[in-house]
Amino acid sequence: MSVNPLLFQPINFRSVTARNRVVVSPMCQYSATDGLGDDWHLQHLGAKAMGGAGIVFTEATHVSAPGRITAGCLGLWSQAQQDFLARIAAMITRGGAVPGLQIAHAGRKASTDLPWKGGKPVSPEAGGWVPMGPSAIPFGPGYTTPTALSAEQIAGIAGEFAATARRARQAGFKIIEVHGAHGYLIHSFLSPVSNHRNDAYGGDLAGRARLLMEVIDAVRGEWPADLPLFVRLSCTDWVQGGLTPDDAVQVSRWLAGRGDVDLIDCSSGGGSPDQHIPSLHPGYQVPFAERIRREAGIATGAVGMIREADHAAEIIANGRADLVFLARALLADPAWPIRAAKTLGASVEWPEQYRRGALAG
Ligand SMILES: Cc1cc2nc3c(=O)[nH]c(=O)nc-3n(C[C@H](O)[C@H](O)[C@H](O)COP(=O)(O)O)c2cc1C
Repeated sequence: MSVNPLLFQPINFRSVTARNRVVVSPMCQYSATDGLGDDWHLQHLGAKAMGGAGIVFTEATHVSAPGRITAGCLGLWSQAQQDFLARIAAMITRGGAVPGLQIAHAGRKASTDLPWKGGKPVSPEAGGWVPMGPSAIPFGPGYTTPTALSAEQIAGIAGEFAATARRARQAGFKIIEVHGAHGYLIHSFLSPVSNHRNDAYGGDLAGRARLLMEVIDAVRGEWPADLPLFVRLSCTDWVQGGLTPDDAVQVSRWLAGRGDVDLIDCSSGGGSPDQHIPSLHPGYQVPFAERIRREAGIATGAVGMIREADHAAEIIANGRADLVFLARALLADPAWPIRAAKTLGASVEWPEQYRRGALAG
C-alpha cells in the first residue's frame, strides 16, 4: 500500500484536523468596503478550499477601522462583517478545508492607498487617518507620524483583538492567527527600530513583547481552549540594530511556555524601508521555521517562495516545519495542492462535487 508523503497526511491542532499540511497564506485583496467583504472574497477563498489546501486563512482582517492598512481591507468589528465572514467560513468548510482568520492591526503602516493605486501613505488631509504606533516615529518618508499609544489605548486595542476573536468564534472560524509580522502594530512594538518607549511596553525584548503577550491573553480569553491559535512573526527585521532571529526564538519560547499558542508562522521583514535581504531564493525563510521548531519546541509554519511540490514535501518530511504556507503560487493556481499531490503520487480528499475531476486526473 502506498503511503502519502507527510505533506499530504492529516495534522491535528487541538480538536481541529486539517486534511493536509498545505496552508493558504493570508493575502489582502484590498476589495472590501468599510471593512465588509463581497463576492470577490467568497470566490477567492472558496476556490482555495476547493483546490485542496488543508487550511485556508483569510487576509489580514482588522480589529478596528483605524487599524486597517487601506480603506479596502477587511475588518471584523461589526455584526454585518461577522455575518459576511460566517459565509466565508462556511464556504471554506464546504470545500473541505479548515477556515482560519488572520486578525491584525496595521499600526503605523495604516492609512495607505491600494497597491494598484501606488500603495502610498494617505494623509488625513487627503482622506486618510492618523496611524498609531509604539512611538511617534513614521514608518518612512511620506508616512504620517503615528500617535504614540498610551497604556490605556494599548489596553483598548487588546480589547479590540478580544472582541474580534469572539466574533471569529461566532462566525465559525476554527483557527485564529494573530498577525505579529510585517511592520504592523504588534511587530512595531517588538522591534527596536520602531519602539523607543521607556515604559513597560518598551525597552528590553520582554517589554517590547508585552503587547503581543497581552493580545494573546485577550484573544485566548474569548477563543475556546479546544481551538488552535497561531502567531505570525517577522523573525528578523533584516536591518542592523533591528529584531534578530535570536529575538524571534526567545519570543517563540515565551509563547511556547505559555501553552496557549500552537504554531509560529515564520515570516520576516516589513518593519523598515531600510531592510536588506541578502538573498531572496525559494525557501529563504525556512531556516527561521526550522530553528524555532527545534529551539523553542513549538510547531512552525514555513512561508516564502515555496512553489514546487518536491520542495514543500521536503520541508515537511525533514521536520523543518509542520505546515507550509503558500501565497502567490495559490493565486496563480488555486488547485496547486491537487496538482502537487498528483506530482508526489499522493491523494487529496476532494469535495464530492469535484470527484469526477479527480478521477479524470
Ligand atoms: C497579494 C498578497 C497579499 C498579502 N497579504 C498578506 C496579509 O494579509 N497578511 C500576511 O501576513 N501576509 C500577507 N502577504 C504575505 C503572504 O502571506 C506570504 O507571506 C508572502 O507572499 C510570501 O509567500 P509566497 O512567496 O508564497 O507568496 C500577502 C502577499 C500577497 C502576495
